Amino acid sequence: MLAVIQAIEKLKQERQAVILAHNYQQDAVQDIADFTGDSLALSRYAASTTARVVVLAGVRFMAESASILAPDKTILLPDSQAGCPLAASIDVAGLRQAKARYPDAAVVCYVNTPADVKAESDICCTSSNAVAVVRSLPQQRILFVPDRNLASFVARFTSQEIIPWEGGCITHYRVTLDELEQARAAHPEAEVLVHPECRPEVTAAADFVGSTTAIIKYARESRAREFLIGTEMGILHRLLLDSPEKKFYLLSPGLVCPNMKLTSLEKIARCLREMQPEVKVPETIRQRAYGALERMLAI
Ligand code: 13P
Repeated sequence: MLAVIQAIEKLKQERQAVILAHNYQQDAVQDIADFTGDSLALSRYAASTTARVVVLAGVRFMAESASILAPDKTILLPDSQAGCPLAASIDVAGLRQAKARYPDAAVVCYVNTPADVKAESDICCTSSNAVAVVRSLPQQRILFVPDRNLASFVARFTSQEIIPWEGGCITHYRVTLDELEQARAAHPEAEVLVHPECRPEVTAAADFVGSTTAIIKYARESRAREFLIGTEMGILHRLLLDSPEKKFYLLSPGLVCPNMKLTSLEKIARCLREMQPEVKVPETIRQRAYGALERMLAI
């Protein structure tokens, strides 16, 4: 392991690269990263870094967002197969049909979408700013794509009519209210922290709902000693690093995203050596998708 870490450090210098890792990445990948964060923080970092090369240790839509925001940089995705089934649940043709059905609606797309869907949307959002993004819009009708659970979470906090796309995250979907109640009975002192991609009955029963970084911050600052976590298990690494004296339990054994686990140190070293797989959003799509992301970052 030491040899591959040294190789990555050397290649990073040679390539003038930074490594950005999502909070769900394997522990060793998070440890080697220059920055770890949620989707919003990764987008912000990619937009502002002066590095020439960005290794996006995450899934494809995150690398696409980096390419949209930083077109002059080389964006590397260590495993080209690292996709997101939620992002794949929507395509441009489907979105255009929905837009034709609701011509007066503003289109808000979750960042977990392909670049060409962002290009067809009015504004993007992430799990940490979805409510603020929707509230910032003057339209009374919002076509919210593609996560129906995030849409229903947003609908609790706004008077606007939210029309959801019927997509969902298979990993977060695995957490059931039954599991939450059983875990609470076993750990009555614990606070329940969940991601808004969880089912509505799960988010409604939780003590806190937020993005991965918001969950990490909440756990760090809370006076509670025990937490029940309703998001992908990779988050446990940062939770335990920040608060080694606290106890964290996953709400469901199914909270593992196979796509997030595709990235390894060896693949990071290889992509820096070979400068591929590169993710580059075509310029015609990029320019329109940039508008949706930029409007979000301005909020
Ligand atoms: P966050 O933006 O909260 O990190 O979530 C990203 C994601 O893909 C959740 O499944």
